Parts: sequence; structure tokens; C-alpha cells
Amino acid sequence: MQATVVYFSVSGKSEELAQAISRELDSRGVGVDVVRLMPKHPHGATLGALMAAMRRPAELEQYPKLGDEDLLVLVSPVWAATMTPAVREFLTHLPELGGRRVINAVCGFHPHERAVERINRELRARGAGSIVSRAVRVSAFEHHDYVSEIAADLCTKALG
Ligand SMILES: Cc1cc2nc3c(=O)[nH]c(=O)nc-3n(C[C@H](O)[C@H](O)[C@H](O)COP(=O)(O)O)c2cc1C
Repeated sequence: MQATVVYFSVSGKSEELAQAISRELDSRGVGVDVVRLMPKHPHGATLGALMAAMRRPAELEQYPKLGDEDLLVLVSPVWAATMTPAVREFLTHLPELGGRRVINAVCGFHPHERAVERINRELRARGAGSIVSRAVRVSAFEHHDYVSEIAADLCTKALG
């Protein structure tokens, strides 16, 4: 079984969760490719929040090439109560998922279920199969073990 773990992160929380999920998948015998989304023209927090609020995408340096892996994992922060511009761009260019399973985790000060659902909607529109999703509060990252627990829970639900 193969998985691609795609993440966007500025202050490291989403990266930490993406790495915890990657470790968990690896421990379950899943081959993992990890890809970080990098905007071609990096923007600061204020412009980033404005772009997110205006539903503007941000061109990426590279677009992840998905193969025939069984699982796609997307980990990202919520910005302005919605998806970040980099994630919007990634989802816009996402190829048909052909029923592939997906894990979608969104980190934020508050548990933004609406941002999670917006991303899920885009994933479904691109043919995602079962989606396991979760809004993760930043306070979770104060406890390393808890982040590992969240990663394990997501993987168990996605892989069965
Ligand atoms: C530009 C910007 C906008 C943000 N907007 C929100 C928001 O609307 N709601 C929220 O709960 N957190 C918001 N946050 C907080 C981030 O979602 C949170 O700190 C997240 O864990 C950061 O992930 P990262 O460490 O992977 O970059 C915002 C952060 C930034 C930088």
C-alpha cells in the first residue's frame, strides 16, 4: 500500500502532524511520499489572510504528482476561517482521485469544522472515496503524545 502525504505549514504545527501521520503509516507498512506545498511567491500573514478570505489561490513552486497510491493525506492550517491559498491551488489542480481514500486534517486556534467541510467538498468533487477528516486545535501540539494519538486515530479510521 502507498500513501502521499501533502502538507502546507508556516509555523510548523501542520508539518508536525503530517510527520506524525507519515510515521504512523510507515509503522503500518504503508510506503509514504511526503510533499510540502510551497507558494511560488511567499506572502506574509496579512496578505495570506486577505488572499484566503478572498478565496484567492497562490501559485505553487511545484505541483505534487499523484500516482496510483491508495491514500492521499492532506494536512494544513485554517486561515481566515477557510483553506489557505496554497491548499486552494493544490485542490484546483488535483487530478481525478478515482475513489481513493483521503485523510484531511486542518489545524487552527479553533476547531474549524466549516473549513474542514469546504476542503472535503473539493475532495469529493475530484472523486475522493471515503474521507476521514478532523479539525485539530493548536493546543493539541502542546502534547507530543497527543499528536501521535491523533495521527494513529486518523490512520486507523482511514485504513480500517
Ligand atoms: C494568516 C493566518 C490566518 C489565520 N486564521 C485563522 C483562523 O481564521 N482561525 C483559526 O482558528 N486560526 C487561524 N490561524 C491560526 C492557524 O490556523 C494556526 O496557528 C495553525 O496551527 C498554524 O499552522 P502551521 O503551524 O502549520 O502554520 C491563522 C494563522 C495565520 C498565519
